[in-house]
This record gives sequence, structure tokens and C-alpha cells, in this order.
Amino acid sequence: MSAPALQLSDVRKVYRMADSEVVALDHATLTLDADEIVALVGPSGSGKTTLCSIAGGILASTEGSVVVGGEEITAYSDKQLTTFRQHQVGFVFQSVNLVPFLTARENLLVVDELGRRQGKPARQRADRLLEELGLTDRAKNLPSQLSGGQKQRVAIGRALMNEPLLVMFDEPTSALDTELGQQVMELIRSEMKSRGTAAIVVTHDERITQFCDRTVHITDGVLYA
Ligand SMILES: Nc1ncnc2c1ncn2[C@@H]1O[C@H](COP(=O)(O)OP(=O)(O)O)[C@@H](O)[C@H]1O
Ligand SMILES: [Mg+2]
Repeated sequence: MSAPALQLSDVRKVYRMADSEVVALDHATLTLDADEIVALVGPSGSGKTTLCSIAGGILASTEGSVVVGGEEITAYSDKQLTTFRQHQVGFVFQSVNLVPFLTARENLLVVDELGRRQGKPARQRADRLLEELGLTDRAKNLPSQLSGGQKQRVAIGRALMNEPLLVMFDEPTSALDTELGQQVMELIRSEMKSRGTAAIVVTHDERITQFCDRTVHITDGVLYA
């Protein structure tokens, strides 16, 4: 058995501002198996993005421990976190965040300037991912020349470039219509399962959860099975 993809233990996150504080996560405990896809469902402001950011080493927790693939990242320095993010995790956001002046293919390759592969192996991997995602004939298009679903597929390809062990999908289908959302979820599921990669999929849409192995609910920073 490989190590769990993610172990959050008693994680608490408090955002402190000048005259107030917000408890965004409260004693969150969550384990994802190495190839498990978990839906994270909860209302706006309930702490979903905060949880994904902490699991992916973008944000430090206030208390508790964060272990990704058996690696304890809780006390990592910024430099260690940068390396960790480049090698172990992927992110796909609702807003997609493609680089507007780079083509679909270049948006995948830009990851590898920092990652596991450079040069020819990186180009080969990018081309293979674009093919799997049905984007070969779109490889030279700019994001502005792509549909919403195509942009989301480029973002999925980019998140998979460095063979992460855990990918966070933060509302990946909320900008898509129902049918396209289901297609993107089918694609996410098959890409994750064929690689044995774990994923957290944040969604408001109960129809999306059927593509996941299990659903975890969150309200006011508290997780429920
Ligand atoms: N950088 C921040 N500074 C202060 N409060 C924040 C920050 N980010 C999020 N919050 C607050 O933390 C809570 C959880 O936010 P978030 O994780 O973005 O929720 P969700 O993704 O479920 O909508 C909300 O009350 C939000 O306003
Ligand atoms: Mg959010």
C-alpha cells in the first residue's frame, strides 16, 4: 500500500485582520487514499478553497498537521513549499488562469520550466496530454480562441504535467453548462483513475459528486462525512 495522498489532522485556519478574525477551518481531519477522488461540498465561504490551499502548500495552517504522500509539509519553509508544489501537487481553478499570450501547448510547457522535465521529454509529455484531452488540433490556439470547456481541459493538462500525486480541482465545472460539466468530470475521473492520482473536487453541484468516490461536506469550516 502506498502512503495516503493526503492526511489533514486537526487543521485549523484563522485569518486575522486588523479588527476581526475568521475561523475558516476548524479541526479539519481528512485522509485521502493514494488514488481516491473526494468531492468537497459546501456553501460559499465555508472553507473549501482554504482547505485546498492548505493541502496544496499554498497556505500555511494555523494549527494541525498536513501530510502529503507521506511527506509532512506543516513546518516547511517557503522555499521547501515551492519545490513541494512543483513536484507533488496540481491545481485547477474555476477561473482557469491560463497565461493569455501563450498557446495551449505553451501553457502546459511553462510548468516544466520549473518541473521534472525540460526540453524534448517535456514537449512529448505535453503533446501526449493534449492528445488524451482531445486538444491536439487546438495546441497552437491562444486561450482567447478556445471555448470554456477547452480552456478547462488545458488547465487539467497543465495540472498533470508534473505527475502530481494529488490534484485540487476548485469548482472546475461551475463556469460550464451541465452537459459540459459532466464531460469535464468524466475526463477528470478517467485521467485520475488511469494514473492512480488522488483528487479533491470542490463543487456546489450534487450531480458532480457521482463522479467521485466519496463526498465530504463542509459548513463553517467544519467537515462532515
Ligand atoms: N485571505 C483571507 N483573509 C481573510 N479572510 C479570508 C481570506 N480568505 C478567505 N477568507 C474567509 O474565510 C472563509 C472561508 O473562505 P473560503 O475558503 O474562500 O471559502 P469557500 O471556498 O468555501 O467559498 C470565508 O469567511 C472567507 O471570507
Ligand atoms: Mg472557494
